[in-house]
Amino acid sequence: MGTVVDASNKEANGGSLSEKKFRVVFVLGGPGSGKGTQCANIVQHFGFTHLSAGDLLRAEIKSGSENGTMIQNMIKEGKIVPSEVTIKLLQRAMQESGNDKFLIDGFPRNEENRAAFESVTGIEPEFVLFFECSEEEMERRLLNRNQGREDDNIDTIRKRFKVFMESSLPVIEYYKSKGKVRQIDAAKPIEEVFEAVKAVFTPLNEKVKHRHRSDASWSFNRCMRQFGEKIKCFWTRRVSS
Ligand code: ADP
Ligand code: C5P
Ligand code: MG
Repeated sequence: MGTVVDASNKEANGGSLSEKKFRVVFVLGGPGSGKGTQCANIVQHFGFTHLSAGDLLRAEIKSGSENGTMIQNMIKEGKIVPSEVTIKLLQRAMQESGNDKFLIDGFPRNEENRAAFESVTGIEPEFVLFFECSEEEMERRLLNRNQGREDDNIDTIRKRFKVFMESSLPVIEYYKSKGKVRQIDAAKPIEEVFEAVKAVFTPLNEKVKHRHRSDASWSFNRCMRQFGEKIKCFWTRRVSS
């Protein structure tokens, strides 16, 4: 499905993205695993911009774009929209945001999404946040979501689960083999899931603070040791004179 955009198209497709230093975290997990819910929390705490590929595609339908009908049909069937369409929407949103750190939610959904994004933007994710949840729980959540989504019906939900197993899990496996997956037990209540999410994001900031703190105490101890030596010398000289 769709075409992989050639690396030589980088400029035409907004290659400027690859020249800037962006932090990108892919947020993956089955439909209803809680990606959007947790991304909203991460935005509040860690200052990322949240880009949901599904939300961007739904906005494109609403905007009356020439691709609207095609996208709508794909979403109704739980199929994955060709990468060139989704990547253009992501690139535009990244450029318009003015931010330099992004949670890209629900993307890449298949190998073609993954390879095309990397080749078009030149961006590799810092890591992949993977929300692990049983189908039974995800199905319950989707049927109760109540956001008026055309794909939150039992027929489409089953199709989306199949696409997730067949096309999206291999992408997660690919990133696992590169040591980039941070897996979260997403079956727990929202607050507990966020505690686990925080632990993934916090070390990046905390480690730096911690290092500075231990650097400072190391310097202090060294100073005290040297100072102590000087006092000892002074007293020894006084006593012996
Ligand atoms: P996704 O973006 O992965 O499809 P959402 O964040 O939209 O999932 O969540 C799907 C539904 O499940 C929403 O109604 C949301 O309020 C609910 N939900 C999200 N996380 C949890 C959770 N940990 N426990 C129970 N319900 C949840
Ligand atoms: O992530 P979300 O559940 O909002 O995605 C809804 C639908 O949008 C998917 O089932 C799929 O049809 C489409 N989609 C896509 N490619 C993506 C993300 C979403 O085709 N990368
Ligand atoms: Mg979502």
